[in-house]
Amino acid sequence: MNQRFDTILKSGTVVNQDGEGVRDIGIVSGRIAEIGSLANASAAAVIDCKGLHILPGVIDTQVHFREPGLTHKEDLETGSRSAVMGGVTGVFEMPNTAPLTVTEAAFTDKVRSGTHRMHCDFAFFVGGTRENVQELPELERAAGCAGVKVFIGSSTGALLVEDDASLRRIFQVIRRRAAFHAEDEYRLNDRKSLRIEGDPRSHPVWRDETAALMATQRLVALAHETGKRIHVLHISTKEEIEFLRGHKDVASCEATPHHLTMAAPECYERLGTLAQMNPPVRSADHREGIWYGVTQGIVDVLGSDHAPHTLEEKSKSYPASPSGMTGVQTLVPVMLDHVNAGRLSLARFVDLTSAGPARLYNIACKGRIAAGYDADFTIVDLKRSETITNNWIASRAGWTPYDGMRVTGWPVGTFVRGKRVMWQGELVTPSQGEPVRFLETLKP
Ligand code: DOR
Repeated sequence: MNQRFDTILKSGTVVNQDGEGVRDIGIVSGRIAEIGSLANASAAAVIDCKGLHILPGVIDTQVHFREPGLTHKEDLETGSRSAVMGGVTGVFEMPNTAPLTVTEAAFTDKVRSGTHRMHCDFAFFVGGTRENVQELPELERAAGCAGVKVFIGSSTGALLVEDDASLRRIFQVIRRRAAFHAEDEYRLNDRKSLRIEGDPRSHPVWRDETAALMATQRLVALAHETGKRIHVLHISTKEEIEFLRGHKDVASCEATPHHLTMAAPECYERLGTLAQMNPPVRSADHREGIWYGVTQGIVDVLGSDHAPHTLEEKSKSYPASPSGMTGVQTLVPVMLDHVNAGRLSLARFVDLTSAGPARLYNIACKGRIAAGYDADFTIVDLKRSETITNNWIASRAGWTPYDGMRVTGWPVGTFVRGKRVMWQGELVTPSQGEPVRFLETLKP
């Protein structure tokens, strides 16, 4: 049979639901058409992937791209440029922009601004507040919406719903899985005096492990009470991992590369406020506890929590310095380095970055390499050693906490719906990002 494809990816090692093996992938109209040996087929473009691993496109389910309102830090174009340079094919973006993404107008504006301007596919979270509870059922069903996000402890921006009564009202009206920033606001307020001026090592003392655990426990209780599903973002403590293993029916959770890679106090001594994040990076025993959650399958997804601030903003003296670091571009290389060091398998990396997001959020036609699915691929050279530098970072913020870190395992290609967007460190196709589609809202 002489089949004809738009593109054939030739002889890559495909990492897939049926294991790992050398295969060709034929693409037609942005979708995967055939997987196997396509020696007799022809295509407008044949791309040699020998020696490279082809992974399902990495979906980063937590990024902050700052548009509208804070575009001196980042915007949808620069943030998504950073994503594809790092091998990421899809992002879920957070609602703490200015204005906050809490109304239909603000949400629609984001989708309009991102479409065919962002370099990867995208979805936006809508922020849950006391004021918009009644609109949430409608808002969470909008095309391009990843669901509702609630901050139950305050971080960057004004989004905050700290009390159980208001949270309960939100839980009662929503239908989809909602995502939460889980730090207990009351405890954070009580402990503010523990911050030491000029010393970011006091950040995890102020925002301690109990604040994170208390918030996660409250959310799980509300989820059981109301019969809803929750996703706990950026787990930072070993106690939350131990707690959540008993509640996998209602709760999924995310780990971030920084909580898996850095540890206090070393990161604060070396990086100062650049390591300042909410929830904080904690001591090495918490890092090990989160790794345990990865190896045991308790952690469902990896998200970067890409939260850019300018170096000037970050150079303010703690605690005036804002919390957040870039991460969308370094997620793949930092985690592949962990794969090479034997801390997780490549199959588990794929599970956490594509199959995991697809399962939690019911993404349509993404998250695996299968005929009929979108041709989204993260193509990596597992043997390539590179040094991560600020210079490489495409984010407008222009820095990474991993500057100078030598890693083995590097993203060399990003395909979004059949288009080669990044290849060997160059952006090769103009922006074409579109909203991710979800099974629950195919027909809003
Ligand atoms: O450190 C953080 N920064 N944590 C968050 O949850 C928000 C983020 C930001 O938007 O800057």
